[in-house]
Amino acid sequence: MKNQDYLYLDHAASTPMRKSAMDKYIEAESYGYANSSGGHKLSRNSKNLLEDSREKIAELLNAAQGEIVFTSGGTEADNWTIKSLFNSERPNDNLVTSNIEHEAVIASAEWVSSNGYRTKYAKSDKNGLVTKDEFLGQVDNDTKVASLMWGNNETGIIQPIKDIAREIKTINPSTLFHSDVVQGIISDNIDFHKNGIESAAVSAHKIGGPKGVGAMFINSNHKLPSFLHGGKQELERRAGTVDVPGIAAFATALEEQQSRFDEEVGLMKNERAIFEEKLKNSLDIEILGDSMNRLPHISNVQFKDLHSEVLLIQLDLNGLGVSRGSACASGAQKPSHVLEAMNINPKFINSHLRFSFGWTTQVGDGNKAAEIVMQAVKEIE
Ligand SMILES: Cc1ncc(COP(=O)(O)O)c(C=O)c1O
Repeated sequence: MKNQDYLYLDHAASTPMRKSAMDKYIEAESYGYANSSGGHKLSRNSKNLLEDSREKIAELLNAAQGEIVFTSGGTEADNWTIKSLFNSERPNDNLVTSNIEHEAVIASAEWVSSNGYRTKYAKSDKNGLVTKDEFLGQVDNDTKVASLMWGNNETGIIQPIKDIAREIKTINPSTLFHSDVVQGIISDNIDFHKNGIESAAVSAHKIGGPKGVGAMFINSNHKLPSFLHGGKQELERRAGTVDVPGIAAFATALEEQQSRFDEEVGLMKNERAIFEEKLKNSLDIEILGDSMNRLPHISNVQFKDLHSEVLLIQLDLNGLGVSRGSACASGAQKPSHVLEAMNINPKFINSHLRFSFGWTTQVGDGNKAAEIVMQAVKEIE
């Protein structure tokens, strides 16, 4: 089966690179291949390209240029903010996060607690929402970092970031408020400053840019200690030779995504609606959080008595690529911690699949996906 005949609905895991970004990568590699820290003409080409990309990304994200630090992706940015502010001089500092975060945050939080600092987890309610009161209830005078994702990667449910950011400083003015917006920027308009986000993790490969590239937004009022030690790149904030072609491609992908945002997200929303409606009318399923404020690209479906792994394989054979939840959780085949946090009936916890639409989604994809699912369910039963 050619890739074109295969329906890809796993955009929350990764998206294909946009042609404009691929072209930019090739152009940038031929023009700016030199090390951007060097002192000759070709290094200056590379450095200029890097700074032009930073300027473009900062402008598109409504941030200052100095607030954008390039990373290897969302995972690194999450690790950086969450881990780097804890040090032995302040042993009573604590971290507040939630029990529905991506593994990059959960594992970083576990690192913080394994190093002797207190970590507190705000709990999701049964609708996949971490309420403002629940989250702020964990924050105290010793909270160094508080981290809550914008939209969940398994359910798409959008968290009350703005409300929390507005009040968190009244509890502790020195708490740094971080948000993992890796899924959020796929299909929501996010202004970090307007929402009171002081640090954010962004990933290029979710919006049609290259894998292994991302950015950390860090409000200019805050300074994080360098996370990777070595050279003095990124204003001494992140050591290592900078992937200038990857960053240039990221800037191009973000530019295209933003300019086509309404059209692309509109399609994701419509096709998801068609998909969910058709499934609800023909199968005994439930759509997680369908009454909630959800990111328009994610649909998490509970198939009751069908095991998700069996259905996943059948869908793959029939030409539809989806996943069980986050890519990491699918590999491990453990029940999802997000679904557990939502108190999903244990009988059905391994019966969920995540369908995620993206920038390549076309009219008809929702209907086609529903047809493939209905056929696969018939074949299994
Ligand atoms: C919410 C969320 N955070 C972080 C990540 C990790 O991002 P990256 O793949 O760029 O490291 C992902 C990727 O799946 C994600 O969905």
